[in-house]
Amino acid sequence: MPRLLRFLLLLLFGLALMTGVGYVALTRTTHRWFETDLRARSLFVVTATKQILARNWEHGHEGLADTLEDITRDERVMGAAACTLDGQRLASTSVYPLDYGCRWVLARIEQEGAETNPWTTTEALPGGRVHLSAITVAAEGKPIGRVLLVHDLSYLERREATTRNLLLAAFFVLSLGAATITMIAERLAFRVWTSELRRALSGEVTRDFKPLVGDVRALVERLASERDREARGGPWNPARLRSTLTTHLDGERVIILANREPYIHDKTPTGVRVLHPASGLVTALEPVMRACSGVWVAHGSGTADKETADARGHVKVPPGEESYSIRRVWLSEAEENGYYYGFSNEGLWPLCHVAHARPVFRAEDWEHYVRVNRKFADAVCEEVDTEDPIILVQDYHFALAPRMIRERLPRATILTFWHIPWPSAERIGICPWREEIISGLLGSSIVGFHTREHCNNFIDAVDTFMESRIDREANAIVQGARRSLVRPYPISIEWPVHWLEELPSVAECRASVRRELGLPADALLGVGIDRLDYTKGIEERLQAVDELLSRYPEFRGRFTFVQLAAPSRTKIARYRELNDRVEALADEINARWGKGDYRPIILLRSHHEPPTVFRYYRAAELCYVSSLHDGMNLVAKEFVAARDDELGVLVLSQFTGAARDLTEALIVNPYDLGRAGDAMAAALRMPEDEQRERMSSMRRMVSEFNVYRWAGRMLVDAAELRRRERVSGRLSAPAVLARAIGS
Ligand code: G6P
Repeated sequence: MPRLLRFLLLLLFGLALMTGVGYVALTRTTHRWFETDLRARSLFVVTATKQILARNWEHGHEGLADTLEDITRDERVMGAAACTLDGQRLASTSVYPLDYGCRWVLARIEQEGAETNPWTTTEALPGGRVHLSAITVAAEGKPIGRVLLVHDLSYLERREATTRNLLLAAFFVLSLGAATITMIAERLAFRVWTSELRRALSGEVTRDFKPLVGDVRALVERLASERDREARGGPWNPARLRSTLTTHLDGERVIILANREPYIHDKTPTGVRVLHPASGLVTALEPVMRACSGVWVAHGSGTADKETADARGHVKVPPGEESYSIRRVWLSEAEENGYYYGFSNEGLWPLCHVAHARPVFRAEDWEHYVRVNRKFADAVCEEVDTEDPIILVQDYHFALAPRMIRERLPRATILTFWHIPWPSAERIGICPWREEIISGLLGSSIVGFHTREHCNNFIDAVDTFMESRIDREANAIVQGARRSLVRPYPISIEWPVHWLEELPSVAECRASVRRELGLPADALLGVGIDRLDYTKGIEERLQAVDELLSRYPEFRGRFTFVQLAAPSRTKIARYRELNDRVEALADEINARWGKGDYRPIILLRSHHEPPTVFRYYRAAELCYVSSLHDGMNLVAKEFVAARDDELGVLVLSQFTGAARDLTEALIVNPYDLGRAGDAMAAALRMPEDEQRERMSSMRRMVSEFNVYRWAGRMLVDAAELRRRERVSGRLSAPAVLARAIGS
């Protein structure tokens, strides 16, 4: 039963009990009061008429009857009778209950033994209760008889009924009030994290697993300025991106240069299969290409890539709904080893990620890197069909290509996006070819990074290592007549995600995934989805699960963490070692907490296609993204996109770019294993209302700031730059040029 309902029921039960006890106490007290009141009234009436009664007593029935009728004029007195001391009736009013006559009263008085004056009793008659009092009448100090007065108590019952109704109404009003107040209080409690964010912004102490104050401040500023800017354009989707391309840039197609291709053809014993590689870059850019059409120039790395492409390396994709082409570039093993494994992934990758791997820079790798960059730049130039094409250069594999393309196509619009972090100038200084790398990038019209911090680091590196002018106001680098804008463009995913169209409901995904993993239907599930890469913090993630189980025994035997790990860059020793270490760690944790069939860690080390990945997102109670350093991390955004049920909790490393966008995730330091374990426990215990509140807010963020907007903003900025360059080219006055472009 939900916590709120339980609390409300308890509250109502308490109120009902209090009302009941109050009612009983009130009726008893009012009864006592009425009885005392009646005794006093009876005595008063008889005492007031004492003289007349005594006089008429002698004269018998006639006179007495009239006096008694006078006494009963009060509407609450039903009747009266005058009795001798030995129980003879002398007179009575016309209405008098015969059951309680003189003899009956005398018998009762004698039976009770004590004579109080007045003697009283309450009796039930078929029409309601009556109050009977016998008052002794005396003449010259001697008792001569008794007057019996019968009071109708139905008015008392009417008053009791009114009291009961009032109490019931009070109970109803109180219950309603209490329920409303409880719900408001509960609502306010759910909003605590929102107010905590506000407190964070004002610099006060914040709650557990809070986002970084600077991130929240930056996000709020970004949302405010972007909302104003974008308000008129409507939501970003493929159609809007296409129209941006045609209306702002007179272009109909774009050329993407990225090492990884979006569709890999591989030979299998049963024929050729198409793989969707595990790559954030591909996840983001493939929908952009579908929307824009054009050519994606990439390394043809699949074992069946050659036989599925034409003589010039072209293949139309997506299979079955062809809307753009891949131009495959073939690399020799030596080229791939030097350019991809060597310089890109043993040099630049660890250089840019603070993840405790030493970068390795070899001169022969560098030579391959230069040569392969030229090879790809040439391939791009072969694909263009105008003098001023729009070229999107992607990632650290192609730091030199922008300048190489610029040399051949001076009027091209080159948008380069660096998908990984750009570290401090000091760290960049480690690279023996840092000037060449920076200079290569400055061939771009725009150099984009995920965060403002990475932009600032890049500008610092330019300042430290290059001869150039930095226009800090416009965030631009000026070299002669050319300038490159440096801008943050936080990348995202398509919205809605097309993979979800074919997926079963969340309930079915939950059931099928648990079945597949051999887990009971009610098992609690955490999920991690990554390439097996040391920057992803997979070891720290498993250790955090270990901490969770050691700190929170309630989850032992109930919670399972499944890690989908796609083997990656396995030619590099560091990656192979990671694979072994992760396996050993999983075994160790399973040995510690496993019991019977229960294993807390399930490691699935193979490539998983997107439909499987999304099924796992939908099946899990939580997703833990524990990167030690990550430019953005699109797994976090995919998890949010997958949860159209608005449930599930994202536990997210503060060292990802995504933590700046998804401030409603539980933000953790992945190195702080104990706190990361606490965060997972908090996720597993989180009430559904709070999960919904967090998830719906993140879903709004990702849907609005989707990848079409990411690409669209770059294209709009490029169009603006191109327009200014044309105008300034016509004016061709350097002073005017410098002012116009940056403003
Ligand atoms: C990161 C890089 C991408 C790369 C992906 C997968 O996300 O930024 O450029 O495609 O990792 O790595 P891989 O080496 O398999 O392409």
